[in-house]
Amino acid sequence: MIKDLQDKIIKLKKERDICILAHSYMSEEICEIADFTGDSYALSVKAKTAPQSTVIMCGVRFMAETVKMLSPQKRVILSNPDAGCPMAEQFDKEVIEEVKKMYPDYAVVAYVNTTAELKTVADVCVTSSSAVKICKAIPQKNILFIPDINLGTYVKNQVPEKNFKLLSGGCPTHAKIEKSDVLAAKKAHPDALFLVHPECRTEVVELADYVGSTSGIMDFAEKSDRKEFIIGTENAIVQHLQFKCPEKKFYPLSKDLVCHNMKITTLPDVLNCILGTGGEEIVLKEELRVKAVKCIEKMIEYGG
Ligand code: 13P
Ligand code: SF4
Repeated sequence: MIKDLQDKIIKLKKERDICILAHSYMSEEICEIADFTGDSYALSVKAKTAPQSTVIMCGVRFMAETVKMLSPQKRVILSNPDAGCPMAEQFDKEVIEEVKKMYPDYAVVAYVNTTAELKTVADVCVTSSSAVKICKAIPQKNILFIPDINLGTYVKNQVPEKNFKLLSGGCPTHAKIEKSDVLAAKKAHPDALFLVHPECRTEVVELADYVGSTSGIMDFAEKSDRKEFIIGTENAIVQHLQFKCPEKKFYPLSKDLVCHNMKITTLPDVLNCILGTGGEEIVLKEELRVKAVKCIEKMIEYGG
């Protein structure tokens, strides 16, 4: 059944000039039919160069919006209209404008997990894999980092030469994890390295052997000589790594590390997008797009 659906999707996407992008948090069966999988930075860059006229984004809304901003001439479809990222909606543009008035000499650095509207008040965007590099590279010394306090704290610690102001937003999925979860996992698997996403709380990140984006964690585990790993991010990464490296062992840090927004996209959703009976075509007002895309273009300029 799964294989039949996959074959149908692969055949139709070629016939209809469709590119399927899948964030690494998607299930294995969706990653298998994608033209490209990766972390949010890699997907943003890929979106710009994909030659197809239609892109189906298997991920969450801000990712599909980013694709549309960078490729306005393409049809961009979010695979499941209900897939949002709660962090992206945590602050309204008006709130950030008020904070900017309080700190006029601070550059607004926005995590890409933000709405298009919020991106219009940002100077530059970052992703988890590019945030340190970009905060070091921008000319401004003062940085107002929005909205993720955990990623912001991690970046602040890596870039001590700059001044940071942080807001108290964050990912509800990663924030569920506590130091005690890490200590318990390390006790259960004493030979395992602990790899973590910087959206986790600071006291969790401090216990890690490696901190990085979803792709960073996967690369690290694949290349490492070590055989056991505790994975401190969405549990799809545990599944993908186990497929890629069957000779190694991967342990979820917690069974609660599940992003329900990333989990709602199914293979039938993808097929419905191709057939025109599902998904949501992303439409952005040109004025909004032109304002919001600037900080994404800056991200790509500084991020390389
Ligand atoms: P990545 O930058 O690792 O893709 O992270 C995106 C995300 O939403 C993690 O929760
Ligand atoms: Fe958003 Fe967190 Fe889900 Fe990533 S894991 S999409 S940050 S809610």
